[in-house]
Amino acid sequence: MENDQLSYHGHFVPYTRDELVAKLRAALTDHRYQHCLRVEQTAMDLAEQNGVDIEKAAIGGLVHDYAKQRPDADFIQAIKDYQLDPELLNYGNAIWHGVVGWLFVKNELQINDIDILNAVRYHTVGHQYMTPLEQIVYMADYIEPGRAFPGVDEARKITRNNLQDGVAYQTKQTLSYLVTHNKPVFPQTIVTYNSWVPSSGID
Ligand SMILES: [Fe+2]
Ligand SMILES: [Fe+2]
Repeated sequence: MENDQLSYHGHFVPYTRDELVAKLRAALTDHRYQHCLRVEQTAMDLAEQNGVDIEKAAIGGLVHDYAKQRPDADFIQAIKDYQLDPELLNYGNAIWHGVVGWLFVKNELQINDIDILNAVRYHTVGHQYMTPLEQIVYMADYIEPGRAFPGVDEARKITRNNLQDGVAYQTKQTLSYLVTHNKPVFPQTIVTYNSWVPSSGID
């Protein structure tokens, strides 16, 4: 199914797809907006393959980066207002746009479905428990057709074959990248790794 054939007004969001798309377009650069459309479509495809609700996957994919271009001050304010873990203040947009950004999705896009919100929340650092929907948004973000990093074809192949193996693959690659480049590792990323990688069937 193609993303522009969807009409989900009233199911999980009080907007038509066109209205929601317009909000994404207004919040993001064209480059990132196009990425969100590709994640939407990829999430739909993965949902179809894995027997997951296609509308929820589409919405999660479309809005996952909604908060990506917010100023840092908005996130810092939200961390304080919602009394989130102060440790978050030691990180930046790369972590915040998912872990904190879901609050903007809830408040500004009026999406209250907890599955969709958690899919946004966990899309960058993952979680020890991820539902198939959460796994799908996590993977769609990683393998959408615009991605072109070493290993992406392997990631696509693994994910099409087995969604959970895809989650393990991405989680391992991400942690490996961070360590190799002396980047800080958000603690949840290690929790996700411990939950998904050692028990997986990937190499
Ligand atoms: Fe993101
Ligand atoms: Fe993304």
